[in-house]
Amino acid sequence: MNARMLNRPFDVAAVRAQFPILQRKVNGKPLVYLDSAASAQKPIVVLEAMGGAMLGSYANVHRGVHALANETTQAYEDARAAMGRFLNAPSDTIVFTKSGTQATNIVANGIELQPGDEIIVSVMEHHSNIVPWHIQRERRGAVIKWLDIDEDGRVDIQALARLITRRTKMVAITHCSNVLGARTPAAEIVRAAHERGVQVLMDGCQAAVHGPVDVTALGVDFYACTGHKLYGPTGIGVLYGKDLGPLRPFEGGGEMIDIVEQDRVTYNDPPHRFEAGTPPILEAIGLHAAIEWMASHDRAAAAAHEDALRDAAMEGLRGLNWVKLHGAAPDKAAIVAFSVEGAHPHDVAQLLDQQGVAVRAGHHCAQPLMKRLGVTATARASFALYNTLEEVDLFIEALKKARKLLV
Ligand SMILES: Cc1ncc(COP(=O)(O)O)c(C=O)c1O
Repeated sequence: MNARMLNRPFDVAAVRAQFPILQRKVNGKPLVYLDSAASAQKPIVVLEAMGGAMLGSYANVHRGVHALANETTQAYEDARAAMGRFLNAPSDTIVFTKSGTQATNIVANGIELQPGDEIIVSVMEHHSNIVPWHIQRERRGAVIKWLDIDEDGRVDIQALARLITRRTKMVAITHCSNVLGARTPAAEIVRAAHERGVQVLMDGCQAAVHGPVDVTALGVDFYACTGHKLYGPTGIGVLYGKDLGPLRPFEGGGEMIDIVEQDRVTYNDPPHRFEAGTPPILEAIGLHAAIEWMASHDRAAAAAHEDALRDAAMEGLRGLNWVKLHGAAPDKAAIVAFSVEGAHPHDVAQLLDQQGVAVRAGHHCAQPLMKRLGVTATARASFALYNTLEEVDLFIEALKKARKLLV
C-alpha cells in the first residue's frame, strides 16, 4: 500500500453507494442500520460474484472432469487461498464450514477428551463457544471452567493462568465480545496457554470484521470466523487450524473420505476431511469477493472511521443520564450495548425501529455474560464501514424520542 493510499480519507459515501439496501426506508423513515454485529449488509460485488458464478460457471467441486467442474473447483479453492491470505495462513489450514458456530463445533467434537478433562471459556463467550463444550460435558464428561472478566470485558491473564491445570485441554475464548465490543489480548492468552502446553481456540467472528487478524503471528491453534458478518453471504464460516491432522472428523459423507469399503473407511487429508458433502460453493465465491472488497480499503482509515462512530455513539449515550453503557474498554470495537432505565430493551428496539433505526435487543446469545452484568437483556447498536456520524445523531435523537414514549 503506498503512502498516498494510506493518507486517503475514508470515503463513506462511496462505500454506501455499494449497498443499495441502505437507500430503503423502514416505517417511512430512512433506514439506519445499526445491527451489523448480528449480520452485515452486502456490497454489490458479493452479489455479482455469486450471480456471475451461477450464470456463467457453475458445477459441483472436486468431482467432475468437465470444464465447468474444473472452473468452479478453481474458484472455490481460490476462495480458500484468499481466506488464508486474509488470516495470514496457508490455504490448507482453512476449512469452509456452514457458519462460525459449526467451526467451534468441529473443534469441540474433534479433540481428544477424557472424563475430567477441562475446557476454559470466558463468561463473555457467544453461545457458539459455550454450548459445543456443554455438549462435550454431557457426552464425554468434560469439565467447563469459567474465566471471569471485568465489567468492560477485560481479561486477567494471571487469572487465566491460575485456571489452567494438567487436565486443561483447551482455552476457548473470544477475540472480541459481540456484546461489550471488548478485544481480548490474544497474543498474551496464547502465550499463557502454550507455556502450559494448552491449545487455544479463538472465536474471531467479531474480531475479524473490525481489524486485520494474523493467526500465524498470534500462534493460535484454531480460529473461527463467519462470512455473513464479513460483508459476505450467510451459509459460510471458516475454521483455521494450525494442525488439523489430529482432529476427528465432524461429519461423514462425500469428499471427506479416501477409501470406503464395507468394513472400513479412511479419511481424506485436511482441510477436505472436514468438508463432508457439497460444500458452500457459491458462498465461498461470495465470501472471496467480500474479503477482497474489505481489503480494497485502507484498513487503518476504515478502522479510524469505525472508531469515530463508536466514540460518537458512546459520547451521545453518556450524555443521557437514563442510559447505562455496558462495556467501555478504550480500544473496543464499534459495538455498543446499553440499557435504558426503566425500559425493556425490546421496547426500546421497537420504538427505535418505528423511527427507522435497527438495533438488536436481547441476550445476544451470551446468557452467562448477561448474568455476569446483572441484566437479562440489553439493547445493542453495532457499526460497520457504511455507517455515518449523521446516523449516530439520528440514533441518539430517536432514542430520546423513544424514552419520552416509554416513561
Ligand atoms: C462472537 C460470535 N461468535 C460466534 C457467532 C456465531 O456465528 P454464526 O452466526 O456464523 O454461527 C457470532 C454471531 O453472532 C458471534 O457474534
